[in-house]
Amino acid sequence: MTRLVMFAVMGLAAAGAALGHQGVTNPVVMARMNVMSGVADQTKVLGQMVKGAAEFDAAQAAAAREALIAHARAVPEAFAKPETDPKSEALPTIWDQPEKFAAANDAFIAAAEGLDVSSAQALAASFGALGASCSGCHRDYRLKR
Ligand code: HEC
Repeated sequence: MTRLVMFAVMGLAAAGAALGHQGVTNPVVMARMNVMSGVADQTKVLGQMVKGAAEFDAAQAAAAREALIAHARAVPEAFAKPETDPKSEALPTIWDQPEKFAAANDAFIAAAEGLDVSSAQALAASFGALGASCSGCHRDYRLKR
């Protein structure tokens, strides 16, 4: 289960990096994509440690956790207005169901705060909930291409 979620998260991170933000003209959409790219970058740092592709580094893991919490707290503001762009993957349900979107993001904030970076084992054990919070929101609020 944890491994499955982890690979899903790694996939998200890779997809984000590969797609980039080319051709996005709306600066508000660009800004929120940048928030998500930051989320993906930090998740990747932690995911590499969980996977064993990178050595566990407590200070780096703690910094990634802090950055994730900051990004997660920036999500409501970044998605406050129903801005669109032909390149956006945001679904209109975000603004049709603002309370539910906020709840999905609260789960993300909680999962980021819940990351235990005291050891490689603790990180691995707490990483699955983070991945579940990404997919929990993307499932309902992000267009699948
Ligand atoms: C509360 C909802 C929510 C949560 C939680 C969330 N995302 Fe997103 N994410 C979105 C939405 C909506 C978009 C589409 C934004 C757009 O294209 O305008 C997106 C886009 C992305 C993108 C593409 C960014 C780009 O360059 O276009 C990546 C990568 C991404 N998310 C990764 C993650 C990861 C990894 C997590 C968990 C650690 C996560 N997201 C958590 C809602 C969320």
